[in-house]
Amino acid sequence: MRVGFVQMEPRFGDVEGNIRRALTIMEGKEAELLVLPELFNTGYLFTSKGELEGLAEEIPQGRTSQALAEFCQRRGTFVVAGLAERYEGGLFNSAILVGPPGVEGIYRKVHLFAKEKRWFTSGGEGFSVYDVRGIKVGLMICFDWIFPEAARILALKGAEIICQPANLVLPWCQRAMITRAIENRVFIVTANRIGREKRGERELKFTGESQITGPGGELLLQASLEEEEVGIVDLDPSMAKDKAVTQENDLFSDRRPDLYYQLVSR
Ligand code: ACM
Repeated sequence: MRVGFVQMEPRFGDVEGNIRRALTIMEGKEAELLVLPELFNTGYLFTSKGELEGLAEEIPQGRTSQALAEFCQRRGTFVVAGLAERYEGGLFNSAILVGPPGVEGIYRKVHLFAKEKRWFTSGGEGFSVYDVRGIKVGLMICFDWIFPEAARILALKGAEIICQPANLVLPWCQRAMITRAIENRVFIVTANRIGREKRGERELKFTGESQITGPGGELLLQASLEEEEVGIVDLDPSMAKDKAVTQENDLFSDRRPDLYYQLVSR
């Protein structure tokens, strides 16, 4: 299966331009599954809830879902993308899985990072795995990386490939995802953005280095720090079905959930 990340630099507030740019970058790239960054259509540094409200869309009626669905239908491909969503009176930092029939999955970011907590509501539906041509694909977003439970639950639900749209600013995620991949024996596609955003008093620099990690922690591909680029790897998702670490050890059946009860209580 040919799977890739799209590393790009969204312009804040230019939804039409960002969609066009993403489609242009993806056009002609041969892959069955491409992953765009978190909030790829809006940019990241909101300065008020009203601003976010003006840019958030309903899924699948909004223009971002529609444009990606048209792309996937025309190309017979699948795309995962991060976008701001308006849903049941709340605003969510969401990711969608889009295929030729349209939007097939929605993940609403659970672990909100820093000022995101001011604007977004934390998703309440949890972590889901979807079928992409017989392959199990799980969704998480950016800061979910620091909570190992996110990738673990996706792996326990059968994810072979975890897609992680991201707007990374801390220096650790790319290295941490190598561990997430090893401890769950899954593939992980991290699609990060590049560039800086300065809005009001605040400025953020995003760290690039989007990557695709294999189930043994192999860094199959890593992008540059500052260039827009698409990285595609031909991988065998069935490798993620084998949870053996040694002949005597299996990642899942060796677990002792009876001793982990603090993990599921406050
Ligand atoms: C992040 O979750 N955007 C760091």
